[in-house]
Amino acid sequence: MAIELKHINYIYSPGTAYEKHALKDINLVIPDGQFMGIIGHTGSGKSTLIQHFNGLIRATSGELNYNGENIYADGYNMKQLRSQVGLVFQYPEHQLFEVDVFTDVCFGPKNQGLSKEECEKRAREALELVGFPEKYYRQSPFELSGGQKRRAAIAGVLAMQPQVLILDEPTAGLDPKGRDEILDQIAHLHERTGMTVILVSHSMEDIAKYVDRILVMNHGEKMLEGIPKEVFAYYRELEQVGLAAPQVTYIMHDLKEEGLTVNTDATTIEEAAEEIMRSFHD
Ligand SMILES: Nc1ncnc2c1ncn2[C@@H]1O[C@H](COP(=O)(O)OP(=O)(O)O)[C@@H](O)[C@H]1O
Ligand SMILES: [Mg+2]
Repeated sequence: MAIELKHINYIYSPGTAYEKHALKDINLVIPDGQFMGIIGHTGSGKSTLIQHFNGLIRATSGELNYNGENIYADGYNMKQLRSQVGLVFQYPEHQLFEVDVFTDVCFGPKNQGLSKEECEKRAREALELVGFPEKYYRQSPFELSGGQKRRAAIAGVLAMQPQVLILDEPTAGLDPKGRDEILDQIAHLHERTGMTVILVSHSMEDIAKYVDRILVMNHGEKMLEGIPKEVFAYYRELEQVGLAAPQVTYIMHDLKEEGLTVNTDATTIEEAAEEIMRSFHD
């Protein structure tokens, strides 16, 4: 079930001077309910990859199955796929366009053919889920702060009640506080709804704390995939491609080199603190 990619390749503008082989033989399975992080430097193919998940971009070659069905088969219902696999773009400005936030969030369900009452109910629920303050419901999306704009854009997708929520760099441009708030909200959303969440980021720190699995992209290829501990064990390889492991990884390795008997695979500050305390007690 879920999202399954088999030998996916994507080439932008084939046969022209701008030809770019952006995805190279990607094989991947994202099971239902997983919180997956996709990480890689700028230009590694993250945005191209996730736009395949809801059929916005069609692979040059390869197969993509959603819930066991080949989305490239004749007669496949792409419209339904797009409402089940919701994508929040990197720039909320690309997504928000109605006169006020509430109308904007109603747009998706309205497009799904739901009644006005149902649309408004969905919009209210979605805005509450992302912690969007009611006093701004009638404000133009363009007058909002960066963080609130993101919330409005996420709510607009949630209002369609998708099975999968994809967020393309939802923290870009936010200050550390705004970043933590949005990420905590997304984690909370994942816990409450059990939906599949795919979070794209170029920061390991963002991802380490939250996700079940990490996919590392490098130059259009899948470089690593695994649970955070497995991926961060390759911190030297990650550095070579311009990605860093979370700071705790480095601290734990330094402590071990200094002779402390710590396990180096802690990925969060809490785990690291526990592990250091344990090593002192031993
Ligand atoms: N519309 C496009 N036309 C041609 N090349 C593109 C286009 N969009 C992205 N690319 C190229 O494809 C590669 C992957 O881009 P992208 O998926 O946006 O990476 P990321 O999201 O990881 O930054 C990059 O080399 C980028 O320059
Ligand atoms: Mg991108």
